[in-house]
Amino acid sequence: MPDSQPILLQVERLQVKYGNSQALWDVSLTALSGGITCIIGANGAGKTTTLNAIAGVLPVQSGKIIFAGDDITCLSARQRVQRRISLVPEGRQLWPGMSVEENLLMGCFLPQLRSRAQTNLARIYDLFPRLKERRGQLAGTLSGGEQQMCAIGRGLMSDPQLLMLDEPSLGLAPKLVQEIFQLIVDIAKQGVTILLVGQNVNYTLQIAHQAYVMELGKITLSGPGEMLLKNDHVRRAYLGIAESPGSAENPA
Ligand SMILES: Nc1ncnc2c1ncn2[C@@H]1O[C@H](COP(=O)(O)OP(=O)(O)O)[C@@H](O)[C@H]1O
Ligand SMILES: [Mg+2]
Repeated sequence: MPDSQPILLQVERLQVKYGNSQALWDVSLTALSGGITCIIGANGAGKTTTLNAIAGVLPVQSGKIIFAGDDITCLSARQRVQRRISLVPEGRQLWPGMSVEENLLMGCFLPQLRSRAQTNLARIYDLFPRLKERRGQLAGTLSGGEQQMCAIGRGLMSDPQLLMLDEPSLGLAPKLVQEIFQLIVDIAKQGVTILLVGQNVNYTLQIAHQAYVMELGKITLSGPGEMLLKNDHVRRAYLGIAESPGSAENPA
């Protein structure tokens, strides 16, 4: 992806608190249009908090969220969906007693989206033939990988410009992890900008055009995914690898 792509999302010095406990400190990041931007970090670092703040499901103390040139910091979560921002939450959060198709249609809940429901559904079934086969099956009876596909499909039903994915490979077998990452790359190729939070650091950095390392609520490092894969601190802390080739050129 060329660096000359316009900025779609710009987060500036975001501060978020839960009561008296501060979860995000001056978090700034940028997602280029059509690119895959990733945030990696340990459990509790603030990754989910960041995505929830961008989606508007958590209030921010201060800072700005600029999307497609507009300041959306004060918009409701619903207004952000209208602006074509979509979040696939951690843990999938499907309705287990509803069918695959009913779950997908829930992604199209805004009245102005409903007229496009069938078109979007057809597009999602093209992308996930397995969901088409299982369209009538209850979501709670799907395998973990299929549930994740259903959650991603539901996130795509609102035809987003920005799709945020929170730990999409959590709990999946290695072969499925690979499949989900390939799907994310395919979705980005269709022009959807991706903001991905991943605990699978190796895969995440491999597909990231731009990546951010988050530690204790702060961004501590950023760069192209391939660069962070070679970074000594990242290798030691997140990949369990002691040395990188040519580490002298590669300060943390
Ligand atoms: N609902 C909540 N109430 C209070 N503290 C929370 C809540 N959700 C998360 N936190 C705290 O905020 C910090 C960041 O959490 P989170 O964003 O979930 O991290 P990550 O997604 O990187 O694992 C952690 O210290 C966590 O304990
Ligand atoms: Mg999380």
